[in-house]
Amino acid sequence: MQTLQDKKIVLGVTGGIAAYKTPELVRRLKDHGADVRVVMTEGAKAFITPLSLQAVSGNHVSDSLLDSQAELAMGHIELAKWADMILIAPATADVIARITAGMANDLLSTLCLATSAPIVIAPAMNQQMWHAKATQANISTLIQRDVFIWGPGSGEQACGDVGLGRMLDVDEIVTLSSDFFVDKYLQDQHWVITAGPTREAIDPVRYISNHSSGKMGYAIAHAAIRAGAKVTLISGPVNLAAPIGCELIQVTSAQQMHEKALKNVAQATTFVACAAVADYRVADIAEEKIKKDNEHMQVALIKNRDIVADVAKLADKPFIVGFAAETQNVEHYARGKLMRKNLDLIAANDVAKAGQGFNSDDNALTLYSAIDKTDIPLANKQIIAKQLVSLINKHYLAKVTEK
Ligand code: PMT
Repeated sequence: MQTLQDKKIVLGVTGGIAAYKTPELVRRLKDHGADVRVVMTEGAKAFITPLSLQAVSGNHVSDSLLDSQAELAMGHIELAKWADMILIAPATADVIARITAGMANDLLSTLCLATSAPIVIAPAMNQQMWHAKATQANISTLIQRDVFIWGPGSGEQACGDVGLGRMLDVDEIVTLSSDFFVDKYLQDQHWVITAGPTREAIDPVRYISNHSSGKMGYAIAHAAIRAGAKVTLISGPVNLAAPIGCELIQVTSAQQMHEKALKNVAQATTFVACAAVADYRVADIAEEKIKKDNEHMQVALIKNRDIVADVAKLADKPFIVGFAAETQNVEHYARGKLMRKNLDLIAANDVAKAGQGFNSDDNALTLYSAIDKTDIPLANKQIIAKQLVSLINKHYLAKVTEK
């Protein structure tokens, strides 16, 4: 899918070691349909040649304000007007300072003054330089001026330091760029989403859980963020990176998930209960590892509180979407949960079918309201999530207008 189809991106490359990643960044932006024109600072040319970036972008690379030939092809004012976005990656502390000061002492800083397009900065510098008061003050000023700051990431740096200051990965910048142009139809909404399994301790080393990977819930969180929602993701233990831009609350047990969900739905417009919450917990969790002295052992269980049903009991409740994981009589059981738990919608999946449901990349859902149903056919969970988020919003808007 070409999510950046016909988008015109000026990529500003400045003099940081991460400049070596920019040919790949240009290639990936073009794969998504973008037209990319590269502008380099003098410093950038110490790390990567204009010729490499010209070859991958298929466009002339501009590097000087005073180049009469380049100005003949596309002058700096035209370039500033041409752009749908100016993306500076990597952005050094120096270029950040110069843009903050409103300087126009090279082509890139001049473009930033001359454009009405959104400006995005992907900082890349030593962790000490990132934390320096001057850099932080510059970043705050830029944020106030509606400049978008993507990153930096954390990790080992070229200089051997460890900490914040790495340019985001190319994949992350490409995803954020695609998301940037998506219709932000959930802009004023706050979604709280539960995802993944819970773990109910038996003793210090054993627990009861299920096969939920968190993929479905994380995909919903990502789709809602793309559509502009503020997202709080309450997640059981999973091996997934949190979608960029969400508030992640990590929990282990059903009781912890219950507490965090009830606390966070207060301001939410929408609550999506995608987590596979353990229905029971162990009555007496052993303090020490249980020894296997007996042939048989019994573990007494107590029922956990139902999180989504308790959210539905709140006086000022959000729009509530539950999930139903069923292996038989899917519609019958799903509709039963919709009514019993007092939900607005329920998304049912047949988890007995191979290749979908728990711990799979794909899924198929049927979304039930009290009066209708909509099928979302088998597809990758990212695609399913996008359709689900849009459908949930339609039902939400219908309910809000009804009031
Ligand atoms: O995580 P993946 O590997 O991607 O798999 C996705 C999924 C199969 C887990 C997901 O699509 C799904 O079906 N999630 C709900 C699983 C489940 O627990 O279903 P249920 O039918 O047992 O529960 C019904 C609803 O009540 C669910 O919204 C559940 O979150 C909620 N519930 C259940 C028990 C409880 N104590 N509190 C709850 O809120």
